[in-house]
Amino acid sequence: MNDALEQYRRRAGVYDLELAAFEPIRRSAIARLKLKRGDAVLDVGCGTGLSFDGLQQVIGRRGRIIAIEQCPEMLDQARARVAHGGWTNVTLLQAAVESAPIPCRVDAALFHFTHDILRNPDAVCNVVDHLKPGATVVAAGLQWASPWNWAVNCFVMGAALYSVTSLDGLDQPWSVLAEHIGEMQASAELWGGAYIASGVFSG
Ligand SMILES: C[S@@+](CC[C@H](N)C(=O)[O-])C[C@H]1O[C@@H](n2cnc3c(N)ncnc32)[C@H](O)[C@@H]1O
Repeated sequence: MNDALEQYRRRAGVYDLELAAFEPIRRSAIARLKLKRGDAVLDVGCGTGLSFDGLQQVIGRRGRIIAIEQCPEMLDQARARVAHGGWTNVTLLQAAVESAPIPCRVDAALFHFTHDILRNPDAVCNVVDHLKPGATVVAAGLQWASPWNWAVNCFVMGAALYSVTSLDGLDQPWSVLAEHIGEMQASAELWGGAYIASGVFSG
C-alpha cells in the first residue's frame, strides 16, 4: 500500500472538518476554472467530493464531473455525497491518477490540495493527455511562504507533514504541470502559505 493511500484511509472520517478552513481557497480555485454550462471537468484526487457542489453549480446537469480517487474510504464519502445531491453526471473512478482510465477529454481539470499527485510526472501526464485544447487547469494547495515568514512556514510544515508524503516541490508545487501547460498565473493565499495557480492548455 502506498503512503498516501494509507494516510487517507485513516483520515476519511474527519477529512471534511479538517479542510473547513480552506474552503475559501476551494471557491476561488473553482471560479478560476472559468467553467461553462455543459462542461466536462476532471476532479483530480477528489477525496470526499468537497468540490462537487461548487462544480455542479457552474456546469449544470448537462455537464460532467469525472472524479479520480485512489482511497476507497474517501471515495465512499464522495459516493454518498453524489447520492445525496441526486447527481447523475458524476463518474467516480477508484484508481491512482497515473493509471486511471479517464473516459473522455475534458474542458478543465482541478487539482485541489493534491501535492503528491502534482509531483508525480506520470499522474500529471495522464491528466494532460485527456485535456481538450483550450482546457483550463487550476491547482491549489500549500506552498512555502517567504523564508522570513517563519510562522506561516511552521504551519505549512506541520500541515504538509500531515497530508503529503514528501515536502519536495513546495516552493513551486505546480512546476511539473507548468512543463505541459506553459505559463501559469499563481497567486499567494493565506499569507503566502497557500497558492492558486491556473493556466490554459494550448494542445
Ligand atoms: C488532501 S486530499 C484532497 C482531496 C480533494 N481534492 C479536496 O480538495 O478536498 C488529497 C487526495 O488525493 C488522493 N490521492 C493522493 N495520491 C493519489 C493518486 N496517486 N491517485 C489518486 N488519488 C490520490 C488522496 O487519497 C486524497 O484523497
